Parts: sequence; C-alpha cells; structure tokens
Amino acid sequence: MARAVLTLTVLAFLCLVALGLSGRANANATAGRKMVGVYELKKGDFSIRVTNWGATIMSVILPDSKGNLADVVLGYDTVAEYVNGTAYFGGLIGRVANRIANARFTLDGKTYRLFRNDGNNSLHGGHRGFSKVIWTVKEHVAGGDSPRITLYYHSFDGEQGFPGDLDVFVTYELPRPYVLAVRMNATARGKATPVNLAHHAYWNLAGEGSGAASVLAETVRIHASRYTPVDAATLIPTGRVAPVAGTPYDFLAGAPVGARIVGAAVPGGAVSGYDTNYAVDGAAADGERRRLRPVAEVRDGATGRAMEVWADQPGVQFYTSNGLAGVRGKGGRVYGRYGALCLETQGFPDAVNHPSFPSQIVRPGQVYEHNMVFKFTF
Ligand SMILES: *[C@@H]1O[C@H](CO)[C@@H](O)[C@H](O)[C@H]1NC(C)=O
Ligand SMILES: *[C@@H]1O[C@H](CO)[C@@H](O)[C@H](O)[C@H]1NC(C)=O
Ligand SMILES: *[C@@H]1O[C@H](CO)[C@@H](O)[C@H](O)[C@H]1NC(C)=O
Ligand SMILES: *[C@@H]1O[C@H](CO)[C@@H](O)[C@H](O)[C@H]1NC(C)=O
Repeated sequence: MARAVLTLTVLAFLCLVALGLSGRANANATAGRKMVGVYELKKGDFSIRVTNWGATIMSVILPDSKGNLADVVLGYDTVAEYVNGTAYFGGLIGRVANRIANARFTLDGKTYRLFRNDGNNSLHGGHRGFSKVIWTVKEHVAGGDSPRITLYYHSFDGEQGFPGDLDVFVTYELPRPYVLAVRMNATARGKATPVNLAHHAYWNLAGEGSGAASVLAETVRIHASRYTPVDAATLIPTGRVAPVAGTPYDFLAGAPVGARIVGAAVPGGAVSGYDTNYAVDGAAADGERRRLRPVAEVRDGATGRAMEVWADQPGVQFYTSNGLAGVRGKGGRVYGRYGALCLETQGFPDAVNHPSFPSQIVRPGQVYEHNMVFKFTF
C-alpha cells in the first residue's frame, strides 16, 4: 500500500517534470495523454521491466545455473532517478547514438548544428535525446506466449538540431523463454535525416552491483575482425577501418574483458578501457538487406550465465563503463568503473561525417530498421 502511494506520488511528480521539461514536443501533454509508468513483461522466471520514460529497460531478471534469480542490468529503482540520471542506463538512444564530430554535419548542401554535450561533440542525440523524452505506450501484453510492449515517439523537425519529423517505434518482446527481442523502426517525414538508434543496457551477468571484478573476469567474444580506430583525445573515428588482429581489440576467439585493459593502449576516454566501435563481420553493404547475425557472446563463469547478442546493424559499440564513477543505483548499490559492459549495436559513429562508412541517412518516406535479439543461457 505504502509502495503504491509512493508510486503514485512519483508519477504525479514526473508528469509535472514532463510538462515543465518537454516544451514543444509535448505541447499536447496537458491532456494527460503522456503518463509515465512502469510495465512488466514476464515469461516464467524470466522478466523485464520497462518505462516509457526514454523507452528504458529498467531490469532484466533471470536465473543462474543454481536457480538463483538476479537482475543483470544496472539502473535505478525509480523512474525519477532515470529522469535525473546521466549514464543512459537501459535507454533507447537517438536520434543519433554515439558521437558526431564538432556537433555538426552537412546534408544535401545544408549545415546543421547540434548541441555540444561531449567536449566539442554531440553525444547520444544531444541534451535531451530519445532516452530523455516520454514515449507513448501503443501496446502492452504482460504475459502469455509473447509478452511485449510497443512504444512510440514523434520527433519533430529541428528537435535537438536534427532535420525533419521522424516517427519512431520500439518493441520489446519475450518471444521464447530467456529470449529478449528489441525491434526499432523510424520513418522520416519531409526531410532527409541521419538516424542511428541504440539500446544502451549496462550488463553485468553476475548481477547488477557485483562490481568490476566480475565484469573484468567475464569472457567476451565479438564477431568482428575490424574496428574503427579513434582519435584518442576526441574519441572520433579517424575514418580507417582497421584489422583487430594483433591489437587489444581482438575478441574474435573470446577473452576475459579485463585481459588487456590495464597497461594497454585502449583509449576509452579519461581512463583505459573499451569504448570502441567494431565492424561486425558479414554486415550488409549499403543498399543490401540487413539480416540478423551473431554479434557477440558474454559468459560469466561464476554464475554460468551467458548471453548471445544478435543484430542486423553494421557496427557494435563495446563500452566497458570506463566513465562510471560512484553512481548510486538499485538498492543503494554504488556502480563504478568497469561495473558493467555495453554492446550497443548501431551504425558507425560519426557516419554522417564519413562518406566511406555505411550510410545512416534516411530519406523522406524511407524506413530505418534495427533488430536485436538477446539469448540467455545459464
Ligand atoms: C492533441 O492531441 C489530439 C488527439 O491526439 C489531436 O487531435 C490534436 O490535434 C493535438 N493537438 C496538438 C496541438 O498537437
Ligand atoms: C541526481 O544525479 C546526481 C549526479 O548526476 C546525484 O549526485 C544526485 O544525488 C541525484 N539526485 C537524485 C534525487 O537522485
Ligand atoms: C574544441 O575546439 C576548439 C577549437 O578547435 C579547441 O581549441 C578545443 O581544444 C576543443 N575542445 C575539446 C574539448 O576538444
Ligand atoms: C514500425 O513498428 C511498429 C510497431 O511494431 C509497426 O506497427 C509499424 O508498422 C512499423 N513501421 C514500419 C514502417 O515498418
């Protein structure tokens, strides 16, 4: 009961916050149409919780080899903390995930300027990207054969500096036991625009809050023989697509996450660590149909939990949460550096400024699609 009252109070607060923050995007929210809530999807002892604040996955709960349940993604207990948070825990990132150099690009002869929120760069859609807006719940089926939730967001022409209206959908679904599917699409209306959506879960298969020791010991395999090297100061790709062979980026055969972080030249921002886009092997060329392919595998030896990531995107950003520092999360647990790893399937970073990278431009009436599947075993 106390919890229900608290939840209502938080929701009322959020609606006020939403009205205050949203401006033009949610001019219609006064009708009370855009409520923020928390939605569960459950299939046996596998379940996730989603909020339409930022189309965010708040929790992913699954057993280990002994049947012990744990939540394997970092995050917060309440939506209010996601509103305040800056780490993108579990959020749906857009309109353009990752960095855009100097917060600027030119498309069809016109130069667009974006917010600088990462040094001189734009990161993850700007100050208020898609992980910081209220999405509309189109469908929610909590249980049964295919628990699912579909969320919708209308991004307006000029929002955060990007051109053209964009209709965006994301569906989270549990189609089979211990399988999470994420389906995204976006339709450009009126103007061409770059689009690069990414789901930004922070995974720790030993359980959120288990800390760096467990993540650094987890084994990762990435099905990518090439990566896009970056300038160490700005983390912007140089434009080369280089072989991983003989570098600390080589995870083709699988290796513990921490095997080569310490003492190796892995530019991950202010501290060493991975914040690296890989060119996934077998990716479709421009104009070819993009198909689901195996992207990466993660295994936690201590609990026996493992995760396969499949997607149909050209790239995957491997991030070892180098920038996390003392973030108070679920149950008051504190998350720090290397406390989780992210495998954000997406287009290449700064593709809009690199004509040689796979194109992320969506023209009016065209549909951007991005599909991911996570398969868990234990
Ligand atoms: C508000 O929403 C209603 C119902 O969806 C729609 O008919 C109306 O045009 C909207 N008004 C504005 C100002 O967007
Ligand atoms: C909001 O986030 C900041 C760090 O970004 C943190 O210090 C503060 O405690 C948070 N406040 C709430 C109410 O969660
Ligand atoms: C931003 O760009 C200016 C001008 O090129 C440069 O002097 C400055 O060092 C850059 N800042 C960062 C953080 O890269
Ligand atoms: C985008 O996804 C939504 C939800 O699954 C679906 O209803 C819609 O038809 C899709 N749009 C396109 C253009 O494929």
